[in-house]
Amino acid sequence: MNILAIETSCDDTCVAIVEIRGKKNPKFNILANIVSSQVKIHTKWGGVYPTLAKREHQKNLPLVLKRVLKKAGNQKINLIAVTVGPGLEPCLWVGVNFAKDLAQNWDLPIIPINHIEAHIYANWLNPQLERAVGQADITLRKAETPVLGWRPTICLIVSGGHTQLILMKNHGDYKILGETRDDAAGECFDKVARILGLGYPGGPAIAAQAKAYRGPASVTLPRPMIYQKNYDFSFSGLKTAVLYHFRSQKPEIRKSKGYIRKMAAETQQAVIDVLIHKTLKVAKNYKVKTIILGGGVVANEELRKQFKQKLDATHHPFNFLVPPKNLCTDNAVMVAVTAYYHWLREKTKIQRLAAGHPEVRANANLRL
Ligand code: KG4
Ligand code: ZN
Repeated sequence: MNILAIETSCDDTCVAIVEIRGKKNPKFNILANIVSSQVKIHTKWGGVYPTLAKREHQKNLPLVLKRVLKKAGNQKINLIAVTVGPGLEPCLWVGVNFAKDLAQNWDLPIIPINHIEAHIYANWLNPQLERAVGQADITLRKAETPVLGWRPTICLIVSGGHTQLILMKNHGDYKILGETRDDAAGECFDKVARILGLGYPGGPAIAAQAKAYRGPASVTLPRPMIYQKNYDFSFSGLKTAVLYHFRSQKPEIRKSKGYIRKMAAETQQAVIDVLIHKTLKVAKNYKVKTIILGGGVVANEELRKQFKQKLDATHHPFNFLVPPKNLCTDNAVMVAVTAYYHWLREKTKIQRLAAGHPEVRANANLRL
């Protein structure tokens, strides 16, 4: 079957068509995948400006759809999937209304998808198995996609809007065990990048500066909540610590390459330390088989590398899955993959989900 998916929860206009075959170990074939970035428009604001993003989505969606359909060879579409939340409400509505119109015009069922769940399912498409141990190892490698040997699983989803630790007992069975109490990890990178005068999005800018830093770790920033018993996070204090440090420096120091790189490296390390420590703690306490990462921040090379190193060094018996980098940041392929697993479980219900169904509506604060 071919699923056409739409994702407009933030500032990227994403449309994809994915061909899927098989039920037990589905094979996913990306026929077309376009992410139309609005970065240039939002750079001058140092963050996403929702009304502007909404307008851009409205302008881009018909064009992106046309390109995607052409790229996929105008193949027949069997299902429409759309992100309904969480995200920026005005942006979500553009995608939802567009998807509803398509579903109505083409007389197809429509599947509403949770953005966080989609970040999890980015791991089901040609997964990058960074590390595999024991019985689940064999199952995963053989099947190419994670099958039941992988569960229970802990998912760390880190993006610009969310930082969550989610226990996944099976497809569609989630429990949020911890989340950020204030800023998300990606938001922290974006805000620190703004303080340091780097561009938007902040994550890649911070990563590039951190990579260029050659000096010793001569500044210590806080690792908020790292040793607390719960699985929650807090990153706003880290951003404030950077701000105070920055303000305490002479103007010529603040602008220097060395200072910017040093602060970027330490900010990145502080975030990585907290994410790894808390994830391993919850993984051990819940005796999970697999650790799954997802969300834009997971595109961070140092985070991926250090996670794997830590797992290897401590010999924890966990499988470790991360999506390819281009599927960590927002895209519609992950929405299509998630929709397929909904389809497998809830075929009858979905067939009834016509465009006018009340479930197909944007919800900025949708929870898993
Ligand atoms: O998942 P995503 O594309 O959008 C949301 O759902 O928010 O994540 C975007 C976030 C931004 O905060 C961005 O700065 C961060 O992911 N990000 C990164 C990297 N690439 C994107 N953070 C750290 N390192 C990266 N390489
Ligand atoms: Zn996202």
